[in-house]
Amino acid sequence: MPVELESLLMESRVFDSPQAFREHATIRDANIWKESDREFEDFWARWATELSWFRKWDRVLDWKAPNARWFVGGRLNASVNCLDRHLTTPRRTKAALIWEGEPGERRTLTYWDLYRQVLRFANALKALGVKRQDRVAIYLPMVPELVVAMLACARIGAVHSVVFAGFSAEALKDRIQDSSACLLITADASYRRGRLIPLKRFADEAVAQCPSIRRVVVFKRSGMEIEFSAKRDLWWHELMRETACECPPEEMDAEDTLYILYTSGTTGKPKGIVHTTGGYLTGVTATTQWVFDLKENDVYWCTADIGWVTGHSYVVYGPLACGATVVMYEGAPDWPDRGRFWKMVEEHGVSVFYTAPTAIRSFMKWGAEWPERHDLSSLRLLGTVGEPINPEAWVWYYKAIGREQCPIVDTWWQTETGMIMITPLPGITRMKPGSVTRPFPGIRAELLNVKGERVEEGGGYLAITRPWPAMLRSIYGDHDRYVKEYWSKWKGDIYFPGDGAKRDRDGDFWILGRVDDVLNVAGHRIGTMEVESALVDHPRVAEAAVVTRPHDVKGEAIVAFVTLKEGGEHNDHLSGEIREHVAKKIGAFARPEEVIFSHDLPKTRSGKIMRRLLRDIAAGKVLGDTTTLADPVVVAELKERYEAQYGA
Ligand code: WTA
Repeated sequence: MPVELESLLMESRVFDSPQAFREHATIRDANIWKESDREFEDFWARWATELSWFRKWDRVLDWKAPNARWFVGGRLNASVNCLDRHLTTPRRTKAALIWEGEPGERRTLTYWDLYRQVLRFANALKALGVKRQDRVAIYLPMVPELVVAMLACARIGAVHSVVFAGFSAEALKDRIQDSSACLLITADASYRRGRLIPLKRFADEAVAQCPSIRRVVVFKRSGMEIEFSAKRDLWWHELMRETACECPPEEMDAEDTLYILYTSGTTGKPKGIVHTTGGYLTGVTATTQWVFDLKENDVYWCTADIGWVTGHSYVVYGPLACGATVVMYEGAPDWPDRGRFWKMVEEHGVSVFYTAPTAIRSFMKWGAEWPERHDLSSLRLLGTVGEPINPEAWVWYYKAIGREQCPIVDTWWQTETGMIMITPLPGITRMKPGSVTRPFPGIRAELLNVKGERVEEGGGYLAITRPWPAMLRSIYGDHDRYVKEYWSKWKGDIYFPGDGAKRDRDGDFWILGRVDDVLNVAGHRIGTMEVESALVDHPRVAEAAVVTRPHDVKGEAIVAFVTLKEGGEHNDHLSGEIREHVAKKIGAFARPEEVIFSHDLPKTRSGKIMRRLLRDIAAGKVLGDTTTLADPVVVAELKERYEAQYGA
């Protein structure tokens, strides 16, 4: 077991929520778990009742494993739930979005403003011929227009497929092709650390290979010069000028698709995770309210990019359905200096702050003097998501950012689960640094061994043993893969998330990380196979294997082992070129940290690459058993190379 996991599991510190927090917490009664467990359908139905429906459901759940239908027969619209229903309340003039651009400009949109923009853009989409359940690809930076575009799709019943703006042209192309999107919404450029990233140029490259795309809508973010196809491209601001501000919402079935979001799996091809409307909104509403203990006057900031699921559920749908004020930031946390986030917390009076362990580890490295320069007393709750948090980072977060006044909710969930699944409830749960503690009420999670037997204490595979409302319904265009990847490890009604975990004596969960070929680098999910395919796509590469090694900020860093084609010579230049090639194929966040060249890769006699050994080499560890190798010399050579290049 890696050293850092051992220390994680020896962690014995416990923290209670501050008294002042507990007194005002929404959920203070620990009976909630028992009650919700006993009648879990009623529990979720009560949450669904909080939403606004055109037609009430006939049945809460229809479960023929592994296919679920939630709120059968119910009809609703997600944009109505995020917008219209707030307009008859004082929330009408409440700030829905408080946005800061990286260069420093600010925009605040009230619920009324956002509503008007969404309706206008929904009409623009209709005028462009977008119909119910058509797919619309969105490739935008973190600007309010991204939220407008998503909700406008929801308004007319179109399915959005948001592609993170850090993805390359090629990754965008794959995702558009897989979903056969008819329209792409993008921007001229996006800002990152003061530089302009030419999004439209990437979009043009992608669309050249996507015959399904009829029109491209371009939001002018920077004024950067772009190529503009008069036949195909349209300016966002021109469309908005011409459209009416009236657009009745489509009545969608609870089970109609709300969105597709691509994520990495164990093959080279990303999967389009399908989320539907009624159950999803119910799940994100419940968790936003209880996990973040949301109050009417909270200023809520989830720092995730909307291109990932955390942004879908906890920047857009959850908080807007709850009528929250959402802070949104376009750029990097260290721009123009390392105090940017804390300056924003102070200036906007942020009270709930949700971020990733990678970010926390960066803040920690930059030093407490940055947050100390700002008044962070508005903060009352902190959250983390995306990867296991090491106890040191947790405690630093608790002290330097939370000033020991804020509970921390360490929330475990996935693109597939749609909603937070295992988490403290901040008013009741005793927190342990590094533990995600217990399933959210109504959720049943367990630890199983390979045979599917329950593990009460110790290590095993995480399993979800009951359907939940925001669960994925399928993989777009590949239902067999859905059944195979998620529902076939044990009996067909147990969901396998692909994570290993541990339970302590109190029954609390500690997530250990992925047990499949999915990497988690800086909280971003990347498939081993995706990176390997990108590597072998380089003309000089013959074969490649990818592993990770522990990294003090990113959690894990990618190490690529590469053999070159006949006659190839390796050098630093080539190593840089190969790393760039991966960035170009997938996105900069997937660029390998290190490339190790070798004349062969360690394989078993049956030809399987032994990643376990490569992992040991990359982590600088004593090598494990090499007796099953076809050619044990290869490993010794690799280890030598690695140590020569990067030190032991
Ligand atoms: C990991 C992100 C430990 C886990 C919402 C999961 C976590 C994968 C945590 C999903 C956490 C997420 N502690 N590990 N609190 N939250 N993970 O789909 O391995 O981008 O399977 O969704 O991130 O990543 P995804």
